[in-house]
Amino acid sequence: MSSESGHTEKLGIDDCTVPETNVSVYDALYRRRMAWDFKNQPVPRDALARMLDTAIWAPNHRLTEPWRFFILKQETKRAHGRIYASVCCAAHNIALAGVAEGLAVTWETGGPTRHPDLARTLGAEEDWELATMLSIGYPTEDPPSKRTPLSNFVQWLE
Ligand SMILES: Cc1cc2nc3c(=O)[nH]c(=O)nc-3n(C[C@H](O)[C@H](O)[C@H](O)COP(=O)(O)O)c2cc1C
Repeated sequence: MSSESGHTEKLGIDDCTVPETNVSVYDALYRRRMAWDFKNQPVPRDALARMLDTAIWAPNHRLTEPWRFFILKQETKRAHGRIYASVCCAAHNIALAGVAEGLAVTWETGGPTRHPDLARTLGAEEDWELATMLSIGYPTEDPPSKRTPLSNFVQWLE
């Protein structure tokens, strides 16, 4: 089944609508950037919904789905869950989907995420921990970045 904004596929127990995009997986992997300055432009709720939907398709151990998402403002989203690798996969899915939406997704794991009253303020269960805060918006510029070349980290054992 097709629609204007994507196509519906049977990927699991539910039908999923896969958004149309010209951004390839490799585009998203190389072009994703965190930004620290955003335009004063609201992020459409449906773009956030599309990005969040990719998060729940992140791999997770024994399909425990150990995440909850608290949307504080239309343009701000926080991924929350037990500190567990799956939650980071989910957050990274959001960041990669953001490339297709023209949005930068910036992780923060420092001070604000450790505030003792945060879980209660958000209405989270007592034993949950905040994995990361994600700031999402249209960046004012293409943020520069760099990486040490791959050859510094790889040893081919042949
Ligand atoms: C798990 C994780 C936690 C991070 N936590 C913070 C943080 O607490 N504060 C911060 O300024 N940046 C944080 N960052 C952003 C990184 O410093 C960022 O990857 C770096 O600026 C490079 O940006 P780029 O991936 O867009 O090239 C975090 C990134 C990741 C993946």
